[in-house]
Amino acid sequence: MSSNPRSVGIVGLGSWLPDNKISNYDLMKLVDTSDEWILSRTGISERRKASEQEAASDLGLMAARRALAAANVRPEEIDLIIVATITPDMFFPATACLIQKNLGAINAAAFDLSAACSGFIYALSVGSQFIANGHYDTVLVVAAEVMTKIINWEDRNSCILFGDGAGAAVLQPVAKDSGFLSFELGADGTGAEYLQIPAGGSRKPASLETVLNKEHFLKMNGNEVFKFAVKKMGDISVKALEKAGLTEEDLDYLVPHQANTRIIDAARKRLGLAEDKVYINLDKYGNMSSASIPIALSEAVAKGYIQKGNIILLVAFGAGLTWGSAVIKWAI
Ligand code: UT7
Repeated sequence: MSSNPRSVGIVGLGSWLPDNKISNYDLMKLVDTSDEWILSRTGISERRKASEQEAASDLGLMAARRALAAANVRPEEIDLIIVATITPDMFFPATACLIQKNLGAINAAAFDLSAACSGFIYALSVGSQFIANGHYDTVLVVAAEVMTKIINWEDRNSCILFGDGAGAAVLQPVAKDSGFLSFELGADGTGAEYLQIPAGGSRKPASLETVLNKEHFLKMNGNEVFKFAVKKMGDISVKALEKAGLTEEDLDYLVPHQANTRIIDAARKRLGLAEDKVYINLDKYGNMSSASIPIALSEAVAKGYIQKGNIILLVAFGAGLTWGSAVIKWAI
């Protein structure tokens, strides 16, 4: 291990989305809602839905293969796999172990990380430390969610928001002073009740009663999460820039968590960014929790909106409550 931290960055990205689309009009057949309400309150038009057979590891595997191909890295070269998810295939083993097996990443350690919608940024932060300190050379970060399987399709407050997808990033050492410049992570467990799945864990194990009460589905206080998100997204964006020794003026591009266009717009305005400097795809995919940012980042890079040397900011908030932001000097 070296005593000088190495610069670490993303050297390959991949994403994967199920084909099946669910429009706002499809949801009008399930709950009392309208295309107009969903679009005006959230910005979402449609979202993707995995098949009955597909689980988080299947979506994550496909995204991971694409990221490895983009980075020109073989599965045996991966030292560590971190999977950010709140919809794991099962409680244990970790979804990361299932992806490790299916990739043939025989030399990789593997674990899951639970930070809800902030999970991808948390995982980037954790994974990059192993490379910065010389412990590992190649880390694969995957964010995979099958939100449609934890949604109560009778709850119009939440079922309209979420969709399925996966994104992945390969991390390696990059040229000095590029890659990750700063991270700002945080949590406030006093807000845990605002967004949770109440039953199925050790607090309230599965029983006939919990199933009948639909306590295995996501429960959300949308208003509280909204207020928290609007404030936090702006605050931690500015903090991460400060930590990197930069200001809003240095920022080239923003890739925010895709939960609600009104929340994203508040963050964009706080940073004084033009509309074309922010990537938005939630109209097509809804909120895919931890997978939203890597999918958005992957698309923004593929479209050429992010170029080598650009300063970009990732920012997310989610259940926990958790939050995270990252400033990156794009290295490839
Ligand atoms: O990654 C983190 C995940 N969670 C979030 O990001 C959630 C953040 N919160 C939000 O995005 C917003 O709070 C929502 C989009 C969930 C809700 O928007 P809102 O502007 O906060 O609406 P509201 O909850 O204050 O509800 C306004 C009205 C209510 O009716 P009344 O009580 O005023 O008569 C709701 O019952 O809209 C009603 N409503 C709906 N109407 C039609 C709630 N859901 C729907 C719906 N269709 N789907």
